[in-house]
Amino acid sequence: MIRMPGIIEVRDLNVATDRQQILSNVHLTIKENAVNTIVGPSGSGKSTLIRTFNRLTELYPKLRQNGQVLFHGKDVRDYRVISLRRRIGLVFQKPNPFPASIYDNVAFGPKLHMKLTRTKLDEIVHDSLVSAGLYDEVKHLLDKSALELSGGQQQRLCIARALAVQPEVLMMDEPTSSLDPIAKGKIEDLMMELRNQYTVVLVTHDMGQANRVSDSIDLLYNGRIVDYDKAEVMKMPEFEQAKHFVMKLAK
Ligand SMILES: Nc1ncnc2c1ncn2[C@@H]1O[C@H](COP(=O)(O)OP(=O)(O)OP(=O)(O)O)[C@@H](O)[C@H]1O
Ligand SMILES: [Mg+2]
Repeated sequence: MIRMPGIIEVRDLNVATDRQQILSNVHLTIKENAVNTIVGPSGSGKSTLIRTFNRLTELYPKLRQNGQVLFHGKDVRDYRVISLRRRIGLVFQKPNPFPASIYDNVAFGPKLHMKLTRTKLDEIVHDSLVSAGLYDEVKHLLDKSALELSGGQQQRLCIARALAVQPEVLMMDEPTSSLDPIAKGKIEDLMMELRNQYTVVLVTHDMGQANRVSDSIDLLYNGRIVDYDKAEVMKMPEFEQAKHFVMKLAK
């Protein structure tokens, strides 16, 4: 099989502290215009792995890293960090809107990165809210504080805020774990919609979600990518906990 290079390629990546190996020899391909999902037990290194994609791991001085993360074939360390983080955005597990209006939350990034007229800024805010599936619910409330929105609406606002700087890759780290089933369903629909225009990287504990929305699923266990298609996990006692994930993936 010929493997097409992905928009992000991880090659032989190791991340460790003085006391702990967090990621071991990770190889991974993130495909363009697809939902690329990473699953695995708590503490397996999922968040650390995706933080290497836009160099957020550099914010933790204890972490040592070697190996390569390539974005469009070029080492992420060869990009300017601000531009890299604009192009590869991250939405966190807990919605974290700024204590400002809905409009200002979405306008924040574009104002920082681009010189824009008010009309152009209005257009970006509108388009980002539409893309995040939130516009109809908030169109008359753009001056209202973002903190007054429901949790599910706040999470879609954070997605709109991430989209407003026109990223190429949108990473979401357990974006629905604090949401009710209806809000979760809306964000799952959105992920599938977004892949037409963006590359989505999803971290989730929710195997049902992984099966519903993903174009590809990688299993991380103890900092290693495990080839569950070859049922490597099933044969090895040290992967006892990972078996649970594989059984659910198979459903
Ligand atoms: N900055 C850091 N300093 C020290 N140890 C860290 C740091 N970041 C992560 N770790 C350790 O690396 C391991 C993996 O953490 P990580 O947050 O990547 O796991 P995870 O798979 O995202 O877990 P969860 O599903 O609970 O979010 C953990 O043992 C954690 O304690
Ligand atoms: Mg995590």
